Amino acid sequence: MVTTCRVCGASSWQNVISFGDVPLANAFLDQPGPEGAYPLELISCRECRLLSLTAVVDPRVLYRTYSYVTSESETMTRHMQEVVRLCAERVDSGRLVVEVGSNTGNQLQLFQAAGHPVLGVDPARNLAAIAAERGVPTLAEYFGSDIAGAIAAVHGRASLILGRHVFAHIDDLTDVLAGVQALLTDDGLFAIEVPYAVDMVNTVAFDTIYHEHLSYFLISTLDRLFTRHGLRTVDVRRLAVHGGSVLVTAARSDSRWEASERVGELIAAEKDQGFLTDDRYEQFAARVRTTCTELTELVRKEVADGKRVAGYGASAKGTTLLNICGLTRAEVEFCTDTTPQKQGRFTPGTHIPIVAPEDVEEQPDLRLMLAWNYAEEILRREAAYLDAGGGFIIPVPEPVVHTRQGVGR
Ligand code: TYD
Ligand code: ZN
Repeated sequence: MVTTCRVCGASSWQNVISFGDVPLANAFLDQPGPEGAYPLELISCRECRLLSLTAVVDPRVLYRTYSYVTSESETMTRHMQEVVRLCAERVDSGRLVVEVGSNTGNQLQLFQAAGHPVLGVDPARNLAAIAAERGVPTLAEYFGSDIAGAIAAVHGRASLILGRHVFAHIDDLTDVLAGVQALLTDDGLFAIEVPYAVDMVNTVAFDTIYHEHLSYFLISTLDRLFTRHGLRTVDVRRLAVHGGSVLVTAARSDSRWEASERVGELIAAEKDQGFLTDDRYEQFAARVRTTCTELTELVRKEVADGKRVAGYGASAKGTTLLNICGLTRAEVEFCTDTTPQKQGRFTPGTHIPIVAPEDVEEQPDLRLMLAWNYAEEILRREAAYLDAGGGFIIPVPEPVVHTRQGVGR
């Protein structure tokens, strides 16, 4: 249970929204049956405006074998190339790049291609093994001060430490930042990509709230965290991936780097747009409730009219969405997913069977887009399904139906 804020140490919280007990988002089941559930509750620190969950699930339960595999979609590959390009503006090739939460090594492989020696760190042994096979050296460990010191002793210090969609998963940020201090060269950079809390609130992306995501950050919150740990924010880039993310770059406080104007601009905008007040989060909670009710009504109405509905992408967000909205197999017949590790299994809590896209014999009338962060790519790829009269329900910010005729409600 979170009592003091992992960023600023305060303990005055606003209760934003409580979803009750929900199963773990990536705990896909071999058989439908009883499973664990944990409270899913979002709170906001009144001091630094960190958005946090109240429950911290033991990372050993979450990550030792992890079924989440980085999507090899076009969107993601293009994005990872962009990350290399942005980092290359400041980090010379030939310099060591260490990635925390390196998953199957896709991102590091691109850094290798750009001429960097690389090292991945990821606690999921199954994924570290896949990465090693594709030639990306990977330590199957949790990143922290101990392991960082050991890496520095063996490989030397790193010019870039990268963490893509991992920082929001970490409870003990102090130990991770101590690790960064131990491993970073004097002018090295620490770059993290996190979902941007402003985008989550503005796009009502409540389904990105699940137990793995302990923190939802503003730039002002991250800036405060870095300052506390001897670092300084030097750049921020907004990115479209995962429904709206930021690549935030920090350096040692006493390093040569100057901060880009974007940092101050975004921090000022957060304040101007009310993100430092309770009101903003109360409005968010109200919009979440409305979106959820509308989605459930829309799907139930279509099913009552005799339509067949199936999920598109058994994403982690899909677990939150289906559980929170109370959509089960009664409404959603099956979900397709391209990830072999998920096929033949069942969605957590809602027990909807997951099948390979190529195994669907008769296309359903409607597809509930559970991987809406790839909507553009999917709509393009599924043009034939749309032409044949199919439709996609996009759940957030408010549910809409995409058909060949256009977008309706
Ligand atoms: P992802 O976007 O990684 O989100 P989350 O963090 O919420 O799990 O998950 C997308 C899932 O959707 C992943 O399991 C792969 C699957 N998927 C498809 O089945 N088809 C597609 O065309 C795409 C892009 C993804
Ligand atoms: Zn705080």
